[in-house]
Amino acid sequence: MAVVILAAGQGTRMNSAVPKVLHPLAGIPLIGHVVATAEALDADSVSVVVRHAADDVAAAVSAQTDGVVIVHQDDVPGTGRAVEVALEGVDDSVADVVVLSADVPLLDSDTVRAMVGLHRDAGAAVTLLSAVLEDPTGYGRVVRRADGSVERIVEEGDASAEERELQEVNAGIYVFSHEVLRQHLPTLGQDNSQSEKYLTDVVSRVVATDGLVHAVQVEDAWLVDGVNDRVQLSEVQRRLNRMIVRGWQRDGVSIPDPDSVWIDLSVTLSPDVTVLPGVQLEGQTHIGEGAVIGPDSTLRDTEVGAGAKVERSVVHDAEIHADASVGPFAYLRPGAVVEDGGKVGTFVEVKNSRIGVGAKVPHLSYIGDADIGEGANIGAGTITANYDGVNKHRTVVGPHAKTGSDNVFVAPVEIGAGAYTAAGTTIRRNVPAGSLAVAPASVRSIEGWVAKNRPDSDADRASRPETGSAKN
Ligand code: UD1
Ligand code: CA
Repeated sequence: MAVVILAAGQGTRMNSAVPKVLHPLAGIPLIGHVVATAEALDADSVSVVVRHAADDVAAAVSAQTDGVVIVHQDDVPGTGRAVEVALEGVDDSVADVVVLSADVPLLDSDTVRAMVGLHRDAGAAVTLLSAVLEDPTGYGRVVRRADGSVERIVEEGDASAEERELQEVNAGIYVFSHEVLRQHLPTLGQDNSQSEKYLTDVVSRVVATDGLVHAVQVEDAWLVDGVNDRVQLSEVQRRLNRMIVRGWQRDGVSIPDPDSVWIDLSVTLSPDVTVLPGVQLEGQTHIGEGAVIGPDSTLRDTEVGAGAKVERSVVHDAEIHADASVGPFAYLRPGAVVEDGGKVGTFVEVKNSRIGVGAKVPHLSYIGDADIGEGANIGAGTITANYDGVNKHRTVVGPHAKTGSDNVFVAPVEIGAGAYTAAGTTIRRNVPAGSLAVAPASVRSIEGWVAKNRPDSDADRASRPETGSAKN
């Protein structure tokens, strides 16, 4: 058995600069889902036919697997031509050819395997999947004869008004006898509304030569939902997301508002995790047991330890270890590591830095390229000045140091273990362990400045309640 995935079409109805089959679904491109289904079939070969944005589509497929052959379609348009080109690389010994569409992403390998089984048992020349749809608009219709056998497939653009009333549609998923394809594909014309070589025309050829065509109706029509425009894309996205969310709920994850939570297929969650409304979990993200994520947070490629909390925050490519707490309103960028029990609080941005065990950065700070020691406390409004315009430098804060509010650490700089820094200090030189760093300049008050420079102002009167009273 050989599998051919059709992915050469332009996807005009998407109105997109991005090729249709590369639009994302649960964290991977549409075509990635179909490639995964194909690989699960253990076929002798899997080929993907490309043409529109061929390099991009081929690159996406190769990034996922190296077990797939990329075939380039030529100038002749149509699904029939796509399969014909793919067959050039298929060995003569192959008996059956399964054709999948890259824009039908929810179809599972069990359904395809069952279709192949029926095809072989019946000794059919062609077996195709069909579905009965309330609204069949846009699909090719299955035309049956009075005895119920399949006569042909007619595309919407070529269908009579009567044929358009038919609700049984061609899903675009087939098993063909290899020999039958070799016989009929070269003879197909392009005399139709789209001037394309239609794969579906093989059906009437087979019927005309007394071959057997089976249309197997799928019970769950959504399995064969095609993505042709962005309305259909969002429907497929929501359906798959619902299935993913439901799967995690069954595995012991609390998700009280499933419709507002989006979880990529690649994400893993432990039991007793709670995912609150408005959360997106993306890429290689893993959440440990008992952690609470949300509301309103986005985590991408992030590891969260057991019992940790992330509230109203954005986290990319970071680690949040057990019992740590992040947010509300924090931004963790690549390389941020919050160790066990550590805290990154409100309006804090962290990049490429380690916040040590139990260390805290509670308020209004930027921590970049820093190493904050165990149990240290960073005062409100602290900035690591890590960039001199050319290079980035590191800040090291020793364990159990307590730094004052409104500090600037001008890197490279080191604050020793257990050291303190005064509020409002700019630290330009290393602070030895156990010392207190204070900036030498003290504040000088010029007495009487307001009376002299802003006479009779509200400030002036307020400053001298015995002589003049401020308005109100
Ligand atoms: C096709 C079927 C239609 C069926 C529908 C199901 C034909 C003629 N029609 O219509 O009966 O109801 O799928 O989803 O087959 N492609 C190529 N090369 C091409 C043209 C298309 O590889 O020259 C690929 C596309 O990238 C896509 C798939 O084939 O993955 C289907 O093409 P599309 O244009 O979407 O066909 P439909 O109009 O949906
Ligand atoms: Ca389609």
